[in-house]
Amino acid sequence: MKNRDLPLSDDQSLPDRIVTAIRGVLGDEQYILHKPIFGGNEQKYLQDCIESTYVSSVGRYVDQFENGLCNFTGAKYAVAVVNGTSALHIALLLAGTKTDDEVIVPSLTFIATANAIKYCGAIPHFVDSEEETLGIDPLALRDWLAYITEMRNGFCFNKQSGRRIKVLLPMNTFGHPNKLDVLKNIADEFGLIMIEDAAESLGSYYNGQHTGTFGLAGTLSFNGNKTITTGGGGAILTDDFEIAKRAKHITTTAKKPHSWEYDHDEVGFNYRLPNLNAALGCAQLEQLPDILVSKRRLTEKYKGAFSSINELELILEPANCSSNYWLQAIKLDRAFMSERDAILQGTNDAGFMTRPVWNLIHTLKPYKGCPKADLSVAESLAKQLINLPSSAGIV
Ligand SMILES: Cc1ncc(COP(=O)(O)O)c(C=O)c1O
Repeated sequence: MKNRDLPLSDDQSLPDRIVTAIRGVLGDEQYILHKPIFGGNEQKYLQDCIESTYVSSVGRYVDQFENGLCNFTGAKYAVAVVNGTSALHIALLLAGTKTDDEVIVPSLTFIATANAIKYCGAIPHFVDSEEETLGIDPLALRDWLAYITEMRNGFCFNKQSGRRIKVLLPMNTFGHPNKLDVLKNIADEFGLIMIEDAAESLGSYYNGQHTGTFGLAGTLSFNGNKTITTGGGGAILTDDFEIAKRAKHITTTAKKPHSWEYDHDEVGFNYRLPNLNAALGCAQLEQLPDILVSKRRLTEKYKGAFSSINELELILEPANCSSNYWLQAIKLDRAFMSERDAILQGTNDAGFMTRPVWNLIHTLKPYKGCPKADLSVAESLAKQLINLPSSAGIV
């Protein structure tokens, strides 16, 4: 039974009213946060891939998937890899990230963003997020960099730690784009290379330009919980031919092309996306436009359902953006954030999987003590945000 349009009573507690609103959208079925849908050519392409016997590192689906990503995003080059974390690792290495460099990154992100920095031997330097985009606050960033850095021989250094700051690494939270042109300008002003963690934002645009294409490179994830999936997978997007060439080379064990010789000219990585996963990705990519329409339909339903609950707002795409609405989220007013855990309990008890946002990275054991700016907005957002069931095809 679908209990749509149930009246909300002010006599109910806030958690109860939220459960009623979600039930009005989703009915009585139980929903997880994000499940993939396989409604197209998945079985056909997988079968074809299996029959070809090329299920690993060689095969036509990888090329086809990479071309499809270029067509969809407008990036000149796409290099498919085993997951979004390895895509970030390689993008950071190719930006020149080295041991003891610092990388500017939001604390409000998934841990993979910071882990990839650590894989390069570098150090995350955490900056604050903004309410409007949930991404890096450009004004606060500019003020912080002006305060904390100095230029030495054309390079940006952290005056306090003495370390070079090399990269600015924004992340498009829940699929909503950062103010990417403003961030790119700040990166240029301070001599930083911008790499975009677009793991969550395939299908999201800022001023009509696809996310992941604003910096030297951008990275995607095709994990099972993302807008489209390859089981596990990721990609590096870039317009730079040399970066694309290097990315392909070092993600395929740095093997020099030759018919039979095993000649490797550096220590590479075995990060290439298997053909089998790429076959799944090709079928998923065909459905991406429909998936995006479906996810926007869900947003409209949630918008209606939550409109009469004054203690919160539904997170909507920022100005001049088209978001993929990867994860739907509500933001509690600060006065009600103490109710977050009761809301999580109530909604999960009612069979609707809701989740808090990630613990801020600077508070986690491996990242305590890293350099950081004032993080008060991120600290508040971490207590205010709740993710809702967000899969395509559920309404
Ligand atoms: C912001 C962000 N960065 C990086 C990743 C890493 O992607 P993967 O799980 O494919 O390694 C994810 C998702 O998992 C993510 O949400």
